[in-house]
Amino acid sequence: MAQFWKPGTERPPLLDDDEGSILLYSASSSSSGYGYVSIEKQRQRLPVFKYRTAILYLVETHATTIVVGETGSGKTTQIPQFLKEAGWADGGRVIACTQPRRLAVQAVASRVAEEMGVKLGEEVGYTIRFEDLTDRDSTRIKFLTDGVLLREMMEDPLLTKYSVIMVDEAHERSISTDVLLGLLKKIQRRRPELRLIISSATIEAKSMAAFFHTSKKRRGLEGEDCVPKTEPAILSVEGRGFNVQIFYVEEPVSDYIQAAVSTVMSIHDQEPMGDILVFLTGQDDIDAAVRLLTEEAQNNLKSSSGLVVLPLYSGLSRADQDLVFSPIPRGKRKVVISTNIAETSLTLEGVSYVVDSGFSKQRFYNPISDIENLVVAPISKASARQRAGRAGRVRPGKCYRLYSEEYFVKEMSAEGIPEMQRSNLVSCVIQLKALGIDNILGFDWPASPSPEAMIRALEVLYSLGVLDEDAKLTSPAGFQVAEIPLDPMISKMILASNQLGCSEEIITIAAILSIQSIWISVRGQQKDLDEAKLRFAAAEGDHVTFLNVYKGFLRSGKSPKWCNKNFVNYQAMRKVVEIREQLKRTAKRIGIVLKSCESDMQVVRKAVTAGFFANACNLEAFSHNGMYKTIRSSQEVYIHPSSVLFRVNPKWVIYNSLVSTDRQYMRNVISIDPSWLIEAAPHFYQHHHPNSIPH
Ligand code: CDP
Ligand code: MG
Repeated sequence: MAQFWKPGTERPPLLDDDEGSILLYSASSSSSGYGYVSIEKQRQRLPVFKYRTAILYLVETHATTIVVGETGSGKTTQIPQFLKEAGWADGGRVIACTQPRRLAVQAVASRVAEEMGVKLGEEVGYTIRFEDLTDRDSTRIKFLTDGVLLREMMEDPLLTKYSVIMVDEAHERSISTDVLLGLLKKIQRRRPELRLIISSATIEAKSMAAFFHTSKKRRGLEGEDCVPKTEPAILSVEGRGFNVQIFYVEEPVSDYIQAAVSTVMSIHDQEPMGDILVFLTGQDDIDAAVRLLTEEAQNNLKSSSGLVVLPLYSGLSRADQDLVFSPIPRGKRKVVISTNIAETSLTLEGVSYVVDSGFSKQRFYNPISDIENLVVAPISKASARQRAGRAGRVRPGKCYRLYSEEYFVKEMSAEGIPEMQRSNLVSCVIQLKALGIDNILGFDWPASPSPEAMIRALEVLYSLGVLDEDAKLTSPAGFQVAEIPLDPMISKMILASNQLGCSEEIITIAAILSIQSIWISVRGQQKDLDEAKLRFAAAEGDHVTFLNVYKGFLRSGKSPKWCNKNFVNYQAMRKVVEIREQLKRTAKRIGIVLKSCESDMQVVRKAVTAGFFANACNLEAFSHNGMYKTIRSSQEVYIHPSSVLFRVNPKWVIYNSLVSTDRQYMRNVISIDPSWLIEAAPHFYQHHHPNSIPH
């Protein structure tokens, strides 16, 4: 073994003990999970099955029911079916189940359709941003992201078509989940017949119950027909557990990708059969690990046979997703390398070994500097326990933590911080405004965001021309921006392109910016990728480079071969084409005229500036290492090596997002003329940063 493993010393505490449970996990029955079992049998074996009557009774009699149960106990796939069987979808009503993650929405919906023996998109459907697989008339159970449900409120503020809304994975505390919970609490007052189910793997059920317990008088009296109790019911789904033995590294590892790869290889060499689940942080490191493992398996003849290595992250195509869930040939061992999506949102059958890097990608926002970052950051103890639990679903398992026990005990925080408290709130504020919630500071949040973050968001929206001086949505710009299902800065860029005559180009850019990456990510082939990028590179920057790639893709007749040759991700490009179509429809609906500026890239850059002026940066005079300072808060930032402007270092640039590793790096960068900043946002630059821009 490349690492030295030390078994964990923590004693297995009981569930619900303060220290949480490490070794005792509830899971489904003791079935091995292998061999053929009818779907009906599988359903009946799930822990929630025993609680069917209790769940239905509680939902009948309480406005809100909180269901806590370990991952894999059947909450997501079964409860909506129980509700449907009990008649909650009769009379054209719909049962909704929300998820924070898009991939989970798709996977769970297709599983439920399969269990019910119906075609996905009919009785059981799903909706995620840019993809709607539901039928207006026949869909009875609908899975959707919490963000999409929030958007639906813009058309139907009381969500009248739903009889029950199940807010799933509430423990994740995603920003949309929290906003949704706050709004649903309001809706409940107006719709006593609506039922809420809040479900999660490890929720602090009591504080959630306290949040939903209102003493406010509602229409009708409790106990009367159809008027449920306001005090939320709490139900805990117990399941039998299998031990998971924990191992820690003795010395901290310096490269967790490499460490994960060698751990997988040694498990494969030394341990009996059983699939391996590896937790890394994102597409980049997952793709890197998949490549390394595949190479390793090819070089190392002894262990070459028998490994099937599969990635799992949100940008995956449907076909690749299906692979992760499908059985593999007998005698082979599946290795799934995943983001924290496999932590609680998705259950993989047959996993006996977990390798936990101890990290995940998290958003962090500093309202003082107004900088939001996607950071690879340590997970919490709660997450570490969830991850370990994935090894013990079908039989006793092992979890290899790529960090030391001392680190786990002393350094890891007990719980994660709700996303609401570590995010930029621009999107959240505009949505609440669009729903007519004016007093945002007084809104009833499950976790209050910081007032500084709120004020920053209001300020940016005011500068974008989306809010007026009374903090109301402006007409028409504010309403138009709210209508487009994208970050308000991107939406504003699209509006600006209408006046500048480059909406065709800007919509392409918007579509590309809304997916993770259009490049095939490579480790070890960085040089080839860089060379491929040079073929498209535009002096103006990444946004214009994207346009070149898109044109090339169209010219090739959308050819997968062309993509491969150019290190362009074919699946990603197909998605871009799809998103672009949808954005075109939205744009037309709000009165944007589709027009191309042909080769005039200056207007494209101006449109980008109109949306992203707040992300402007200036190259430090005499900087030899490419150091920039942000205009709004004088933070040190650098152009990311993946940008075509890396080492080119134009004097003035605008970035799309920041990532932070050893430094703050700007991703997707375009060069601008500073005078455009004042044109685009006079308030922002003249009032707040009067001396920062040459006139
Ligand atoms: O929501 P919860 O974590 O409680 O469980 P679930 O997602 O409803 O999963 C219940 C069972 O369905 C698990 O044993 C999964 O293995 C199975 N399942 C599956 O086989 N394929 C899916 N796409 C989703 C669930
Ligand atoms: Mg679930």
